[in-house]
Amino acid sequence: MMEFWRCCKKGAVIISSLLMLLVIFAACEEPDPPAFGEDLSSFPYNPQAYSIEVPQHFNPVPVPANNPMTTDGVALGRYLFYDPILSVDSTISCASCHKQAFAFSDNSALSIGVGDTEGIRNSMSLANVGFYDDGLFWDGRVGTLEEQSLHPIEDPLEMKDTWSNVEDKLRRHPDYQKRFRAAFGIENSNEITRDLVTKALAQFERTLISGTAKYDFSEFDWGQDQQFFSSAELRGRNLFFDEPSDPNAPHPGCSHCHTSVLLTTNEYSNNGLDEAPELTEFDDKGRGAVTGYLIDNGKFRVPTLRNVELTAPYMHDGRFETLEEVLDHYSSGGHYAPNLDANITAFPLTAEQKSDLLAFLKTMTDTDFVENPAFSSPF
Ligand code: HEC
Ligand code: HEC
Repeated sequence: MMEFWRCCKKGAVIISSLLMLLVIFAACEEPDPPAFGEDLSSFPYNPQAYSIEVPQHFNPVPVPANNPMTTDGVALGRYLFYDPILSVDSTISCASCHKQAFAFSDNSALSIGVGDTEGIRNSMSLANVGFYDDGLFWDGRVGTLEEQSLHPIEDPLEMKDTWSNVEDKLRRHPDYQKRFRAAFGIENSNEITRDLVTKALAQFERTLISGTAKYDFSEFDWGQDQQFFSSAELRGRNLFFDEPSDPNAPHPGCSHCHTSVLLTTNEYSNNGLDEAPELTEFDDKGRGAVTGYLIDNGKFRVPTLRNVELTAPYMHDGRFETLEEVLDHYSSGGHYAPNLDANITAFPLTAEQKSDLLAFLKTMTDTDFVENPAFSSPF
């Protein structure tokens, strides 16, 4: 009997020492997030519908049924947009390349990502981006804002992170746990997914409405009499929009492609930037790489001209530094390619006409938009 107890005691000592060791080992290891995540159900969730205010001459912003706008969703999207946590080394946020002061574009020819890596395209303005949900990027390769924001995170030339890592960082972040709860009513931090990140970003982006420039007041007759075009701006406006009675007479014809409220037809065209006697000769195939049609090579989406004074440098590769250079390009008639758009033809441009056109382009600058505190960094 004694023997048995002694043996048992020894065994117990060994077992308990082993257990102790295990406990010590476990304590030394990195604390893993509990597989079950944090319970968030005690944090507030009172969704308030957010209605996007648009000027009277705008259509309503299309909002997908599976991502209704809420005040907390927009607020969360704004945090995420400005937070470098979405990049691998916490150096780059969406706002690094989409700066409010430049109408949410940036001022480098090709955008600069993590580790100062240069991208291949010029950053785009996000003014009124909620209206372009049928083809985003210069080549229209993605359909929706939700889908769009999946890309920069893992792009090695942009934020260079992985989605699983970003999800992990956000799930462990106490502030984001509460913000995702408030925006989407999730019960547990493990429900923070890329799907919800992109939904929140898209909600914030849909609020970026620019429609209070002098162009809006004068062109759409808001009755704000002090905002009417000056005579130089009006002459520029007429050069931009007017159609001569003889359609073959040389004229700028800008409004064939940049027109109406959004100042773009949102179509794809070759505006003559590169000489390409054969359609295979474009360095950047643009739309052609998306559709696979040779005829689309060298075509790019017609960009909006809203706030164009602030979005230099210009074109998909930022090749022109100033609007003067842009006008010189158009008045020269551009470079030949078999798919050069028929609306790109040489036209004479006197010094006065050039400055009139410039004056008109500057009426598209929307100071309210670039100074709106609701769009600025929340940090
Ligand atoms: C390193 C710079 C960079 C970062 C970071 C970046 N973008 Fe962009 N963004 C660009 C460039 C360049 C384009 C155009 C790319 C192209 O057409 O291939 C673009 C295009 C877009 C567009 C398309 C706009 C349109 O009219 O088609 C949206 C929307 C956008 N970015 C949102 C975001 C969001 C949201 C983030 C953060 C998750 C982000 N971007 C991060 C540089 C950047
Ligand atoms: C055939 C259609 C077409 C016509 C006509 C046209 N554009 Fe464009 N415009 C485009 C396209 C397409 C781009 C983008 C091209 C690219 O980057 O490859 C562009 C780009 C621009 C840009 C650069 C915007 C930015 O954010 O980078 C400006 C400025 C501009 N156009 C002004 C004008 C003016 C002024 C006129 C009239 C003199 C004009 N456009 C006529 C199609 C057109």
